[in-house]
Amino acid sequence: MNQIQHESFDYVASLQQQGWRFIVPTNCSLLEAALAAGIKLPSSCRNGSCRTCMCKLVSGQVKYKITWPSLSREEKEDGFILPCVAMSLTDVVLEVTYATRIE
Ligand code: FES
Repeated sequence: MNQIQHESFDYVASLQQQGWRFIVPTNCSLLEAALAAGIKLPSSCRNGSCRTCMCKLVSGQVKYKITWPSLSREEKEDGFILPCVAMSLTDVVLEVTYATRIE
């Protein structure tokens, strides 16, 4: 049988300014993965509408859990993402100014 297997992968997210890294499990948003790793990113609605979490994707690729994340075409072209609804398709590097460690 010649069938394509769809495997699950975890990816690594790096916060460029802080130098922190965390694992992003498949089907987990970047925000959820950061929290699970003890890193708090700015957030409010957590459903892709308020834009509180907006940050820059320095490298890598993401896909969204929702059809219409609250980003303009220009913001997307400039590399901005909403980590509360973004899931990694590759390892990613993010620029997040206000990330903090959860004690
Ligand atoms: S927390 Fe509201 S858009 Fe991400």
